[in-house]
Amino acid sequence: MLELDYDNMLATAVGEEYGIAPTELAALMPRCARIHADLMARHAAGELPFYDLPTDRAMLTTVQKLADELRGRFENVVVLGIGGSALGTTAAFRALGALHHNLLPRKKRGGAPRLFVQDNVDPAGFGATLELLEPHETLFLVISKSGATVETGSQFAIARHWVEERQGDAWQDHFVLITDPEQGALRRLANDSGMRSCAIPSGVGGRFTVFTPVALLPLALAGVDIAALLAGAADFMTRAMDADLLANPAYLNGALQYLAYQKGLRISVMMPYSDRLRDVADWYRQLWAESLGKRMSLDGEDIFVGPTPVKALGATDQHSQVQLYMEGPCDKTVTFIAPRDYGVKVPIPAFAQLPELAYLTGRGMDELLRCEQQATAQALTRNHRPNCTIWLSEVSPRTVGALFYLFEVQTLFAGALFNVNPLDQPGVELGKQLTKKLLLHGAADAATGSSD
Ligand code: PA5
Repeated sequence: MLELDYDNMLATAVGEEYGIAPTELAALMPRCARIHADLMARHAAGELPFYDLPTDRAMLTTVQKLADELRGRFENVVVLGIGGSALGTTAAFRALGALHHNLLPRKKRGGAPRLFVQDNVDPAGFGATLELLEPHETLFLVISKSGATVETGSQFAIARHWVEERQGDAWQDHFVLITDPEQGALRRLANDSGMRSCAIPSGVGGRFTVFTPVALLPLALAGVDIAALLAGAADFMTRAMDADLLANPAYLNGALQYLAYQKGLRISVMMPYSDRLRDVADWYRQLWAESLGKRMSLDGEDIFVGPTPVKALGATDQHSQVQLYMEGPCDKTVTFIAPRDYGVKVPIPAFAQLPELAYLTGRGMDELLRCEQQATAQALTRNHRPNCTIWLSEVSPRTVGALFYLFEVQTLFAGALFNVNPLDQPGVELGKQLTKKLLLHGAADAATGSSD
């Protein structure tokens, strides 16, 4: 279902300067064993609830019941959320829905609504989305763990006004609030108003919520098989909890990335060779950056650490960023994600007037893309650039579920190796505070930095 091919990360393939020697991996093993023991102890103590989400039957049933209740009533579902409250849905829907879902007529969508993920507050973008919609046939999913996120709050205020103007008191029926089970403004509103709501399990932070109602509800409404998504992640749990570094792709990939970082490879490129998996790289970018980019170590020292994630798409970026990856500074690792089966066959027909392309005749487009991925990996390797490939048997709910789970555990494990807390994000707070100050007092006061 999912395999990590890391041969090209090793010194044997790319040379000793940037490649990882077996002795380096072996030297890390005792530390990895301690990290594993710590993670399992914290998991057993209930401190890391995201581990168990794939097997949470009660949560799945709740989401499916709510989706059944809402299904057929709306032509449009709009997610209002940002960061971890949006990126998982976007990535999973791109991977598992029809690629041009929203452009298809309702029948070809299997009766499922169109799905929009509105994660920014650019008035042009938000306004353009509303222009496509009619309030009476639109459902908004307001998603915020904290319930206090300014982007989501402002979108909610605008959307509520927009629906209320046309639907009057029935506006509440057009909103579902997905938020903390107990705290925050959205939970209070849900409790006070009786609006429909769903709980994001306690202790699961934004970027680890792809297996919660945050993504499961919009995906279920849009027709994705969420039970299979969770089952794929659940199938992968045993491997992702294996103490043996070499048998656990999540730990191993985290360790390889960590060792590469120590050799100065501080940029981590993710390059799916798949249109469907394109936005997994976006989701990963947030997971990796927000979890590992930290000033302070777990011991309270300033360490200013963290690999910079970059997203790319094969084959498109072979004609863009790949030149830099091949010949620019040797400061990157490249992780390819490659499906073995694209699920669609598009043969390339003969083109008599273009004999230069004769070698393509009868080959499949999937074959071409696969060869391009392998050729890029080989070329990077020849240029002494470490790279690895995560092979998926196909792009399906099960494999995508496993892939998300792999990266979540990899991130947690890498956090321990980098000696940082991967579950917090103190660095984004100052920007939030200053935004508020600017809105309250204007530019001059905010610039003074006074803390009233
Ligand atoms: O990973 C995180 O915690 C963040 O990216 C959040 O998801 C993001 O800031 C949105 O937060 P909230 O869900 O509280 O609105």
